Amino acid sequence: MKKLLWTICLLGILFPPKFGLKVQHDGISAKNGHGMLEKKESSRSNLENYDYTKYHPIEEIYKWMSQIEERYSEVVTQHFLGMTYKARPMYYLKISEPTSTLKKIFWMDCGIHAREWITPAFCQWFVKEILQNYKTDPRISRFLRKVDFYILPVLNIDGYVYSWRKDRFWRKSRSSHNNGTCFGTDLNRNFNISWCNVGASKNCTHQTFCGTGPVSESETKAVSSFIEDKKDSILCYLTIHSYGQFILTPYSFTKTKPSNYDELIRIGQKAAKELKAKHGSNYKVGSTSDMLYFTSGNSRDWAYHIGIPFAYTFELRDNGTYKFTLPEDQIQPTCEETMAAVLSIYDDIYEREWGFNEVVFTSATMRLSVFLFFMLFF
Ligand SMILES: *[C@@H]1O[C@H](CO)[C@@H](O)[C@H](O)[C@H]1NC(C)=O
Ligand SMILES: *[C@@H]1O[C@H](CO)[C@@H](O)[C@H](O)[C@H]1NC(C)=O
Ligand SMILES: *[C@@H]1O[C@H](CO)[C@@H](O)[C@H](O)[C@H]1NC(C)=O
Ligand SMILES: *[C@@H]1O[C@H](CO)[C@@H](O)[C@H](O)[C@H]1NC(C)=O
Ligand SMILES: [Zn+2]
Repeated sequence: MKKLLWTICLLGILFPPKFGLKVQHDGISAKNGHGMLEKKESSRSNLENYDYTKYHPIEEIYKWMSQIEERYSEVVTQHFLGMTYKARPMYYLKISEPTSTLKKIFWMDCGIHAREWITPAFCQWFVKEILQNYKTDPRISRFLRKVDFYILPVLNIDGYVYSWRKDRFWRKSRSSHNNGTCFGTDLNRNFNISWCNVGASKNCTHQTFCGTGPVSESETKAVSSFIEDKKDSILCYLTIHSYGQFILTPYSFTKTKPSNYDELIRIGQKAAKELKAKHGSNYKVGSTSDMLYFTSGNSRDWAYHIGIPFAYTFELRDNGTYKFTLPEDQIQPTCEETMAAVLSIYDDIYEREWGFNEVVFTSATMRLSVFLFFMLFF
């Protein structure tokens, strides 16, 4: 009798009956505007007309940010980061689900180089994807339980405006130097890491002018002091550039490898694979000094150096046909594939940080622990 019970018990544990668990899908159809405040209604319809497959001038991006904050007020807030040289406000978006637990941060900035228009387009695409899907996509809602997203859609606003109005190929900021005889600092040579030692110029007429000192520029100052302040919480720093199709790791100023280089490469290679699976684009993965050239004072090396463990530079499409003037019909596929790569990186970081805690909830380990419990007590 006892033996029989034992056997039934064991069989039950090892081959549990299936309790047809049904996943409820929230209807996304019930989305009519009746009874809504007029203001909210108008911001919603404007936002729904926003074309993510076009490049937008800064005025439209500012407006988009406020509309996003209003439309998704339950998870998004817009925050002031600092002023540009020409006194334009810099804002970042914080996507955060209200919970009482302390959360980590995934930071992403776009548009540090003015002419790389595909990058602000990607930051906006990213925000849209997260907001449209966080309630229904378990992958995204999982992130938001542990992490807040901080997105800076256009870092170099003055340069971006200049590239729209005067010179499509402008790269730098618009600060004035040498008594107004030349303009602009390469903000990605102005961070406080091996400042102006290699691959940067002290001549303000050059494209890679590193500024008058480390962090001499107001834009760099705004980003650095914010990140420095939050560095203990920031798990991942992504900075988005174009073009060339690379996922790049530290460092740029030396061939010396960071301590978690192998892991950075492994995560980067998986991201490149997921990226390629979308539309077939080939991305190369490696450190900037191995893959491209030596530079110093860039934001990614600095972020890694101050202790942010996962720091990558993306160089988006293309690989040399259109260069900085990527046609608008490539915005969507570029954003889709980049989204896949970024989420792959986030998945890996998530697993590394919190994956272990979830193992206990899988049915296999549950069965094993029940089995062990019986073995010990009977
Ligand atoms: C700067 O430019 C102004 C106007 O062109 C001129 O009057 C002034 O002498 C210049 N200063 C220096 C230090 O060159
Ligand atoms: C740059 O970093 C060094 C330490 O690495 C520090 O001593 C220095 O004050 C920093 N400079 C600026 C302008 O932040
Ligand atoms: C800066 O670069 C320009 C253009 O290459 C050159 O004509 C000029 O002499 C340089 N200035 C200095 C101070 O080296
Ligand atoms: C650029 O990418 C296209 C499409 O992925 C590919 O056909 C082409 O060979 C690539 N060119 C270079 C120089 O890598
Ligand atoms: Zn760039």
